Amino acid sequence: MKKTPTYFLLDIKNNTAYITVNRPDKLNALNTLVLKELSEILTTLEANEDVRGIILTGAGDKAFVAGADIKEFQEFSSDEAWQLSKSGQEEVMDNLYTFPKPVIAAINGFALGGGLELAMACHIRVASEEAKMGLPEVSLGIIPGYGGTQRLPQLVGRGKALEMIMTGDIIEAKDGLQWGLVNHVVPQGELISTCERLLEKMYQRSSSAIAAAIRAVNIGLMEPERGYEEEMDAFANAFDTPDFQEGVAAFLEKRKPNF
Ligand code: COA
Repeated sequence: MKKTPTYFLLDIKNNTAYITVNRPDKLNALNTLVLKELSEILTTLEANEDVRGIILTGAGDKAFVAGADIKEFQEFSSDEAWQLSKSGQEEVMDNLYTFPKPVIAAINGFALGGGLELAMACHIRVASEEAKMGLPEVSLGIIPGYGGTQRLPQLVGRGKALEMIMTGDIIEAKDGLQWGLVNHVVPQGELISTCERLLEKMYQRSSSAIAAAIRAVNIGLMEPERGYEEEMDAFANAFDTPDFQEGVAAFLEKRKPNF
């Protein structure tokens, strides 16, 4: 990024980029500028070879992200709403979903509407015990617009997804864990260190293999008829990588691989 973002804190340490949505007075709600800045940050981090993974969280202890900015879209026409949904999905949510390095959402409070959609676009979700999650759009007379109707059923199944979407209920972290919406629930004070531990394990693995695995999983979910073929191709391509040479050599020499 050329200039300092208005709504983000960005820190890069030990191969991890810590992205914090920093709009706590509005519970980190996603307005157009927040989305534009996040898209730019992701583009920069994808190209940064020092960065091997991302932890995405919200500023303050109350909210991860409390949704799309309701005030901003209150006067939108349906054309403007379509554009909002399209650019949010394509420039941010899809970008996170297909990001070639691991992305973990550290859900530190409310993750509602677009906030939960943002967390669902990440590869893994770790929630604090205080986190509360939901897709309350139907109480505003709208539906989720950043991929929620597609990604929630992938994580919790159709029945629970429709229950959450049709009731608009906000659920506790422990229910999110039981339903498969989040991978782990930990005390607030252990949220970031838990994400760091997961990433540290991944950094010991092959990053080219991780990128190929993310891609194969995603293609299988987005275009199911292509999933197995993509896996075969990616499996074959992996045999041409230096990481394959190193991984197999390390196994045979009974040492740790140095990727
Ligand atoms: N869009 C815009 N502003 C939001 C927001 C959103 N999605 N969520 C919270 N805010 C703002 C509030 O308007 C308030 O701003 P103000 O101080 O200028 O009035 C500030 O953030 C604090 O929120 P507040 O509602 O006072 O906090 P609370 O603790 O009473 O309630 C929530 C917290 C999360 C339950 C409540 O803010 C809420 O329901 N937010 C909307 C959630 C939602 O429907 N999201 C989906 C949008 S599609």
